Amino acid sequence: MFRKVACVGGGLIGQGWAITFLIRGLHVSLYDADSKRSADSMNQIEARLRFLSERGWIPVRRVREALKKIVVEESLKEAVQGADYVQESVFEDLRLKRKVFREVERYASGDAVLASSSSSLTATSIQKGMAHPERCVVAHPWNPPYLIPLVEIVPGRETSRETVERTRRFMRSLGKEPIILRKEAPGHVANRLQAALLREALNIVDKGIASVLDVDRAVTHGPGLRWAVAGPFLTLHLAGGEGGLRRAIEHLGPSYERRWRTLARWTHVPEKAVEKAASSIEKHVKSTFMKEAEEQRDQRLIRLLKTLQPSQSR
Ligand SMILES: NC(=O)c1ccc[n+]([C@@H]2O[C@H](COP(=O)([O-])OP(=O)(O)OC[C@H]3O[C@@H](n4cnc5c(N)ncnc54)[C@H](O)[C@@H]3O)[C@@H](O)[C@H]2O)c1
Repeated sequence: MFRKVACVGGGLIGQGWAITFLIRGLHVSLYDADSKRSADSMNQIEARLRFLSERGWIPVRRVREALKKIVVEESLKEAVQGADYVQESVFEDLRLKRKVFREVERYASGDAVLASSSSSLTATSIQKGMAHPERCVVAHPWNPPYLIPLVEIVPGRETSRETVERTRRFMRSLGKEPIILRKEAPGHVANRLQAALLREALNIVDKGIASVLDVDRAVTHGPGLRWAVAGPFLTLHLAGGEGGLRRAIEHLGPSYERRWRTLARWTHVPEKAVEKAASSIEKHVKSTFMKEAEEQRDQRLIRLLKTLQPSQSR
């Protein structure tokens, strides 16, 4: 449905989106305000595409085709001109995003969808002051966007239904799994859930209940596996037997309440909790091993996705 896509911001997520679009055969123009970053983005994108083909996620020829379809532009104007869809992924800074969107809408074609990757800012706040705010929407990916299917589409107060629907259809055409939020909330859905889990993970380590490695193991060998096939509601519904979720809450409610009473409630991360977690993970994942750790994560994700969603790998 869209043929040319512009990526504004070529950091981690901008690169990830570019790969996502390229894999599906789209033409991509990328712009980053930092010219050094732009050059680096191209190297990263090429390396990541090669990695994906070596691991059997995409055919080798797709790498060659993709590399012919991406252009790094020197100005935002050149990048967004003629694009049907613009994906903004600049720093998470409201003033900057507003400025970028005003500039983007000046040069983008009249019917282009203008989407933001923002993790916590709302489309309502970003679209303020735009001449055509109805075209602006949040389309929030999960890292790495070229593997994790979830995209949270969050309309702002002035976003049109048409923009939401076109974004949803576009995401589906990319093989993504879009959800459309009914209301804006900082962190959307998945990051709110992650924030709740992360706070307790830090708390468990801080209180000396378990080590950083064991908390990670508890998630990846336990609920993480199950969450890949059943979300928290279906899990609870199944746990209740014939009475479903109602019965599960009746039965497990008091036990959950006991846990909730002792969970962390802070809204500012205590420094000592960060120190404990950071010094431990740094011992196990040395800075020289970060790239390998990232590749290992992606390789495992590919294996998992091939099993769960074979149609994803093309
Ligand atoms: N990191 C994640 O896991 C993640 C996941 C989902 C969404 N996001 C969101 O994606 C966005 C980008 O995050 P990131 O992790 O890629 O950040 P990043 O720091 O890796 O990249 C941001 C890039 O934006 C560029 N930039 C800054 N101002 C610009 C401008 N005016 N025009 C063009 N480029 C500009 C920077 O040079 C930098 O390369 C944020 O809004 C973030 O909330 C991040």
